[in-house]
Order: sequence, then structure tokens, then C-alpha cells
Amino acid sequence: MTIAPVQRTGSTAWTDARLILALEEVVEQELNRHLKVAKEWMPHEYIPWSQGRDFDGVLGGEAWAVEQSQVTQLGRVSLVVNLLTEDNLPSYHHEIATMFGREGAWGTWVHRWTAEEGRHGIALRDYLLATRAVDPVALERARMDHMSAGFESDNAHSMLQSVAYVAFQELATRISHRNTGHFAGDPLCEQLLAKIANDENLHMVFYRNLLRAALELAPDQAMAAIRDVVTEFRMPGHGMPGFERAAAQIALGGVYNLRIHHDDVLQPVLRHLKVMEVDGLGPDGRQAQEELGLFMVGLDAQATRFDERQAALLARRAANAARK
Ligand SMILES: [Fe+2]
Ligand SMILES: [Fe+2]
Repeated sequence: MTIAPVQRTGSTAWTDARLILALEEVVEQELNRHLKVAKEWMPHEYIPWSQGRDFDGVLGGEAWAVEQSQVTQLGRVSLVVNLLTEDNLPSYHHEIATMFGREGAWGTWVHRWTAEEGRHGIALRDYLLATRAVDPVALERARMDHMSAGFESDNAHSMLQSVAYVAFQELATRISHRNTGHFAGDPLCEQLLAKIANDENLHMVFYRNLLRAALELAPDQAMAAIRDVVTEFRMPGHGMPGFERAAAQIALGGVYNLRIHHDDVLQPVLRHLKVMEVDGLGPDGRQAQEELGLFMVGLDAQATRFDERQAALLARRAANAARK
């Protein structure tokens, strides 16, 4: 009897280590593409330094007061959530370096991504402090709390779930920055956030292309990973102090809510990758695809109920304000 080497491509053959190895070439291509399209930008150019002055405390300047802030109340809430999310970069770096490794193309990507993300936190903090947009003491205390708690990925047990999660999450972050800028009430803030949102978009493209390659390589497992990530999605900032309250304000204000999550984050990635049209799946993949489709229909209905509640609440508020 001859025992021929068997190329196993079935569901049991794909371990995380094998997937990482098999996708290394795609990572290298995507990294090179990313480096070509990502243009260098200088965070300091976006900060109106002339608006800055000393704070109270060591330098005996003026204490912060809310009247000094030129951004809207919604802008303040959302900017803080976005900055604290960016601030937890050491934890994210740890998570992805542990999952993807620090060697070869994967490692180069992990470090490059970390460097780019670092720029976001720096630029946002510089803007907030120079313009006195938010309470600096509350911000620093929230940063200490949030970073001290650290961030643990929901997807650390699965390489494919990790890739799927970041594809959606980078787009979620892009939309969140962009919409925050839109509602902040300061054109300089909007300009900075549009720049940051552009970076997040390039990160999304990198991971989305990687997810496409994973779908071709291990369709059943990738489909299951997408289903799990989409159905259990949580924003990376979910653990920060006061997140639920802030998220409610951010949702009502139209920066980020179920409708936006469904229409501007989940659907564009699913459609781009033609996830619902992938065929040739095994029973597990087909089941995952079906469950994903059902979930999206349910989410759309839930988003419609949210839209209606939001419209009713905003109308009530407007009527109350008109009566005063
Ligand atoms: Fe970022
Ligand atoms: Fe990003």
C-alpha cells in the first residue's frame, strides 16, 4: 500500500498557525500596497496651537471651564470616547502581536499599524488640550482608569475571528471619527478627524483584503468567523468608564448607532466581499452563512425600531425646547 502525502484542506486541517503561514504572502502584498497609498501626514499641522494657554496647577494658568469649549456637547462626549479608545493602543498591540506574531510581513504590519494608530491618540489629545475642548483632569483620570483595566480581545481564541473583527472595527472607527467631526461644531476638529478617519479606512482595506483571502483559503471557517464576529460585535471602547451612557448619547446624536452600524459598517464589508454569495461551502459554512443572513435581517429591523424611537425622542425634545 502506498501512503501518499495528503493535502488536507478540510475544516480540521486549518489551525491558526497554518492560516498565519498561508496568509503571509497576502499580508506582504497588502503591506506593500498600504505603504504605497498611505501618505505621511504631520499631526502638529492640524492643531491650532495659537489657541493654547497654560492651565492652573504647576504653571498657575487658568482652570478649565466648559464655557471655553468650542465643540458641541455631543462632540465632547464622542471625542473623549474616541480618544480613550485610541489610548488603549498598548493593549491592542499586545493582542495583535500575540495573535499575528512580530516576525516577517505580519510583524512589519503589526508595528507599522501601531505607529499609525499612535499618531491618532497624539493628535486628538493635542487638539483637545490646545483648544480646551474637554476637561483635562477628567480626561486624564479616565485615561488612567481605562488603560489600567487594559483591553482583552473577544477574539483572541481565533485567528480568523481576529481578522474579521478588525475588518469591521476599523471601519466602525472610521465612521465614528468622521461623524464625530461632523457633529463637533469646529471645522478644525472636523478636518483632523477626517484625516484620522482616512487612516482607519486604509486599515479596514488591509484587513478586508486579508479576510477575502481567508474566505478563499478556508471558506467554511472564515464564514463561521464572520458570523461570530458580526453577531457578537462590541466596540473596542466598551470597557471604558461611563461607556454605556456615552454610547447612548452618541447613538441618539447620530454619531454611531444601530442604523449606522448596519448600513455603514457591516453591510459595506459583507457586500464588498460578497459574503452572502459565497458558494461551494460545506454544511458548517452554509449554516454560518444562513445564520449571518438571518441576523442581518433582524438587525435591520432592530435599527428601524431605533430610528423610530430616536425620531420620536428628538421631536419631543424639540417641542419642549420650543415651549420654553
Ligand atoms: Fe486609530
Ligand atoms: Fe485603525
